[in-house]
Amino acid sequence: MELDVSSVADTKPKHVAELFDLKGRVAIITGGAGLLGYYHGAILNAAGAYVVLLDLPVANPQLRARQLATEYGSEALGIATDITSEVSLQQARAQVLERFGRIDILINNAANNPKVEEGSTNWSRLENFPIEIWDADIRVGLTGAFLSSRVFGSEMAKRKSGVILNIASDLALIAPDQRLYRIEGVPEDQQPVKPVTYSVVKTALIGLTRYLATYWSGANIRVNAISPGGVFNNQPEVFLNRLNQLIPMGRMAHRDEYQGAILFLCSDASSYMTGANLVIDGGRSCL
Ligand SMILES: NC(=O)c1ccc[n+]([C@@H]2O[C@H](COP(=O)([O-])OP(=O)(O)OC[C@H]3O[C@@H](n4cnc5c(N)ncnc54)[C@H](O)[C@@H]3O)[C@@H](O)[C@H]2O)c1
Repeated sequence: MELDVSSVADTKPKHVAELFDLKGRVAIITGGAGLLGYYHGAILNAAGAYVVLLDLPVANPQLRARQLATEYGSEALGIATDITSEVSLQQARAQVLERFGRIDILINNAANNPKVEEGSTNWSRLENFPIEIWDADIRVGLTGAFLSSRVFGSEMAKRKSGVILNIASDLALIAPDQRLYRIEGVPEDQQPVKPVTYSVVKTALIGLTRYLATYWSGANIRVNAISPGGVFNNQPEVFLNRLNQLIPMGRMAHRDEYQGAILFLCSDASSYMTGANLVIDGGRSCL
């Protein structure tokens, strides 16, 4: 039988660099001046994207964007934005469009991240959890992701092209193991715990991911989530020893270990992927 040459041409793999190339694309990262947001920005910038870091004024996103541009060469813009305010997001959108003329990628990364592993009073316990903290955590992590998706996603929908990536957590899949946060000698009813809002926000983001993926499938917007495990950031030794025993790989993630997944999900390398949640947690949630 003769070989059909046209079908052979179709199966030729794309050039690797082409799959991951983001040249000319504009990527917005909420909470972009924080610990991981900057690393997400770095990999997208290195792949050629124009990166926009949105963050509260106190986090100085303008300075972080200048650092990013200096380090990775591609243009970067920092805009002081409160993602809990739709007006603030609309102002940011106007600035991005004025500067770059388009929006291709949104990473919903901002969240309130209370460091209970560093010890705290008993405010974190369910019985005492202040309703003001509940409201504030939901407002940043969940409402902020919804508003950002609406403001920037609508712009992508107009152009019928875009990618949204929601940053969830391994705690979107498993319950927190509250033994990790125990402080010896503290009475049971005062032991610190991982706040309920963290689990609620991160699990809800997976729901938002699926909803948006189907809602905007006709507009050619792909929407996915990643569920990262904890990142090593000089946590107390007692906490590390306990947590590492729960992780098959025996350690927390390095700060740059999500960059491959971020680039994959924001680029054409994941062109047939939407509504999915990529779990990257050293095996923690498979136990
Ligand atoms: N660090 C980890 O171990 C880890 C693990 C799993 C998931 N995550 C998730 O990754 C994301 C980034 O985590 P991180 O460690 O970089 O946290 P981070 O606290 O360093 O960064 C979060 C950023 O969000 C910003 N932010 C808060 N409220 C905002 C608002 N109203 N408007 C705009 N920006 C606002 C903060 O100023 C901060 O810069 C979070 O969603 C977090 O839950 C982190």
